[in-house]
Amino acid sequence: MSLKENILKFLLENTDTYISGQQLAENFGVSRNSVWKAVNQIKADGYTVDSVSNRGYRLSAKSDVLSGNHIKSKLHGEAEELNVIVLDSVDSTNNEAKRMTANGCDRDTLIIANEQTGGRGRLGRSFYSPKNTGIYMSFLLHTQLELSDAVAVTTAAAVSVVRAIEKLTPITPVIKWVNDVYISDKKICGILTEGMSGFEQGTAQTVIIGIGINITTEDFPDDIRDRAGAVNADGLHRNDLIAETANELCRIFCNLSDKSYIDDYRRCSMVIGKKIDFYRNNVKQTAKAMNIDQNGGLIVMLGDGTVTTLTSGEVTVRLSE
Ligand code: BTN
Repeated sequence: MSLKENILKFLLENTDTYISGQQLAENFGVSRNSVWKAVNQIKADGYTVDSVSNRGYRLSAKSDVLSGNHIKSKLHGEAEELNVIVLDSVDSTNNEAKRMTANGCDRDTLIIANEQTGGRGRLGRSFYSPKNTGIYMSFLLHTQLELSDAVAVTTAAAVSVVRAIEKLTPITPVIKWVNDVYISDKKICGILTEGMSGFEQGTAQTVIIGIGINITTEDFPDDIRDRAGAVNADGLHRNDLIAETANELCRIFCNLSDKSYIDDYRRCSMVIGKKIDFYRNNVKQTAKAMNIDQNGGLIVMLGDGTVTTLTSGEVTVRLSE
């Protein structure tokens, strides 16, 4: 590890106290000038370092720099096996996952970017992904899932995000079927699940679960300004939310046949019991959302009393006025 990395690790482990330049210099056997230079590099990486004369340096709680080491240190259970990659900028973490798969990556991997220049949403839409203010990540998982499990995977991801936010903040988000997470009537998270290879056998050998969460994003583009929001929770750090979401997702994913997570999905559903409009192939239908089935399908009652289950990722649901 470089001096900068050593000092950063030390400051991350001691965020509750100031550490003097002298102490850091002695710890790492370098001059105080080298410490000063390393601290400046840490600041240049985006960390906020409070420095007070006669007391020393302390990493500010405001620092929210993505760090693979920090994320790895918070993973537990099945998620500990994840290969974690942090990128400063990429077109789309889902695209990166596809490229890695094409290049033979056979490890379960979590790819995170500080910014996406071509973030993708469902139905060919784009996903606004500005620098520093959001979480843009893709889980590249190797599996023998049936393609019919695609909705279950997406619902599992939505539950993971909600559980992670609930664990780290006082906020209780809600889920709009199938893949959108809302806080205070604004969409703060979208999920794009894609499968790769093996389609002819009806199974996906690689599943890519792309999750975008607006953490402090403001100034949304005009077309989404009315509907988009951010988590905006005091003291919430992206590294912690990423790790917590990964812990939840990997735990659910390793045993998808245990459907208990669907109870949490139902608990957080903002559509059950409501009148909705749903759109399939641009055709609008009105219905009442009755329940979520064990596979994450949305059970609806149409105007003529017929009960049917929506399972397709190509369906978009809106609450009726
Ligand atoms: C949607 O709301 O329609 C889904 C949005 C999914 C966005 C995430 S951000 C990380 C991953 N990479 C992408 O290009 N898209 C997903």
